[in-house]
Amino acid sequence: MKGIVFNILEQMVIEKAGLAAWDQLLQDVQPASQGIYTAGGNYPDEEVVQLASRASEMLDIPLNTLVTAFGSYLFSNLVKKHPVFVEQQPDFFSFLKSVHDVIHVEVRKLYEEPSLPHFRYTQLNTQQLRLEYRSPRKLCMLAEGLIAGAAEYYAVRYQLEHPVCMHKGADHCEFLITLEP
Ligand code: HEM
Repeated sequence: MKGIVFNILEQMVIEKAGLAAWDQLLQDVQPASQGIYTAGGNYPDEEVVQLASRASEMLDIPLNTLVTAFGSYLFSNLVKKHPVFVEQQPDFFSFLKSVHDVIHVEVRKLYEEPSLPHFRYTQLNTQQLRLEYRSPRKLCMLAEGLIAGAAEYYAVRYQLEHPVCMHKGADHCEFLITLEP
C-alpha cells in the first residue's frame, strides 16, 4: 500500500479525533515503519488493516463503517491532489468507467509499483451500472467509500447493492449502482 494512503489516514484520524489519538494508535499497533510514511513509498498492506482495526476499536466505530468513511475521505484528498481525473469526466458514470482504464493507468505512471484492483463495468441502462471488483486485498468497503466520494463530488444520489462479495466466499465483488432521480 502506498504511503499516500497512510498519510491520508493519519490526516483523517487527526482531524476527527486529534493528534493524541493518532499517537495512541501508533503506540498500540507499533508498526514496523514507526508511523513514518513517505507518499511514494510502499508499506505492508497489513499495517493499514491493523491501524484501521485499532482505530475502529478506539473510536467505537464498526470497521466497515470506518473503512467506507475513509474511502470517501481518501477520494476527496486524491482528487485535490490530482484534479485532472474529475475534470476530464462530465458525469458520475463516465467517471466510474474511467477508473480502471484511465485513472489507475495514470496512477501506475505517477506512483512506483502501486497495488491496484481490477474493475470491469457493464452499463445496464442509463440509470444502472454494474461494477465487478477484483483484488487480493479485498478492499471492497474502501471501494464503496471511494464511490460515495465520487457521488458527492458529482452531486448525485444513488443506491448501491453488493450482492456478490469476496468476504462471503466469492472470487470477486459485484456492485450494482442505481441512480436516484
Ligand atoms: C470511485 C473512484 C475510485 C475507486 C472505486 C478506486 C478504487 C481503488 C481501490 C479499491 C484501491 C485499493 C487497492 C485494492 O483494492 O487493491 C485503490 C487504490 C488506489 N487508487 Fe483508486 N479508486 C478510485 C479513484 C482513484 C483516484 C481519483 C485516484 C487518483 C489518483 C486513485 C488512486 C489510487 C491510488 C494512489 C491507490 C493506492 C495504490 C497502492 O496503495 O499501492 N484512485 N483504488
